[in-house]
Amino acid sequence: MIKPPHATVPPGITTLADYEAAAQAHLPPEVWRHIQEGAGEERTLARNRAAFARWGFLPRAMADLRGGTTALSLFGRAHLAPLMLAPIAYQRLAHPDGELAVTRAAAALGAGMIASTLSSVSLEEIAHTARDASRQLGLAPSPLWFQLYLQPDRADSLALVRRAEAAGFEAIVLTVDAAIKPAGLSLPAGIEAANLKGMTRLRQTATAGGRIILGTALADAAPRWEDLEWLRATTRLPVLVKGMLLDEDARRAVEMGADGLILSNHGGRVLDGLPSPLDVLPGLREAIGTSLPVLIDSGIRSGADMAKAIALGTTAVLLGRPQMHALAVAGMAGAAHALHLLRTELEMTMAQLGCPTLADLTPRRLIRIHGEF
Ligand code: FNR
Repeated sequence: MIKPPHATVPPGITTLADYEAAAQAHLPPEVWRHIQEGAGEERTLARNRAAFARWGFLPRAMADLRGGTTALSLFGRAHLAPLMLAPIAYQRLAHPDGELAVTRAAAALGAGMIASTLSSVSLEEIAHTARDASRQLGLAPSPLWFQLYLQPDRADSLALVRRAEAAGFEAIVLTVDAAIKPAGLSLPAGIEAANLKGMTRLRQTATAGGRIILGTALADAAPRWEDLEWLRATTRLPVLVKGMLLDEDARRAVEMGADGLILSNHGGRVLDGLPSPLDVLPGLREAIGTSLPVLIDSGIRSGADMAKAIALGTTAVLLGRPQMHALAVAGMAGAAHALHLLRTELEMTMAQLGCPTLADLTPRRLIRIHGEF
């Protein structure tokens, strides 16, 4: 029996791990597998968590915490905390309200959200819902970005960019790491890629088992550097590239005018054997300097994880699977609660470390742990 979602946060949930543990009972087994799975032997999936366990903290005693804040500014926009919701496809798999519940939760908590090309409600509806929710709550609208999966026909990619601009999205995130994915879930009736309706050639994400890839339309439609050049020339919005791990790729993206990078291994879902973004972050910061926003995702599950990532040079982090866990358990209330938990955990960690601002989180607050913590 699949449990229906709760209308409010059930008792006993105090961490994101609690949401993960509770979520399975609320989801059909194939949807649970789809959310949780990693590529291959799931070594990268495991590494995404282990990378955080290899760092401990070194607090400053009796630091002056007055005037402390988790706030930051990104592309001229105020963010209350260095936390955004990662693009996650088909959120109605986890809850009937899907993206709309997550959008309302983000608006209520003032958290940034990145809507996926593969959202199960349209990008216009997401933008409209975000504005409505902020207005009703008397809050400033929270940052809203659009994640672009390039489509085989450039006219379709262009149409998505123009629609995102017209709807009021404030940045475009070009995902480059999941051009070709192993066969995925077959979507239940009523759940579809709402943004891609009417497009004639859809981006092929599913390669049925054993299908040849190289030399086929699948490989031909994978993103290339010239696509980034095109996107940069096409929109005046900030462009971020999501899904790179290599210094030289980062440098090249910056040279081509990328306004920010999102280091990611796609939550361990695409290629097993990749390092965690946390592992490559310090080296990459050395290679490209400190001025450009560099966000990371993959494996972030607590405010302590956020503090470690920021101390090692990230500007902000993205939250992936926990969105689906919280949605499945308690819809909008769950998603809002999960964001609240992370924010308060980050504040608690910063206070304990003697770091009143994000700038105070430096590598000197960390100690490398040899062996498991
Ligand atoms: C994703 N991710 C993803 N990324 C993207 O750019 N566009 C998308 O549509 C999706 N869809 C998607 C669906 C599901 C079910 C998952 C789990 C992930 C990747 C996502 O944005 C992010 O990179 C990872 O989820 C981060 O890792 P964690 O937080 O899940 O460990």
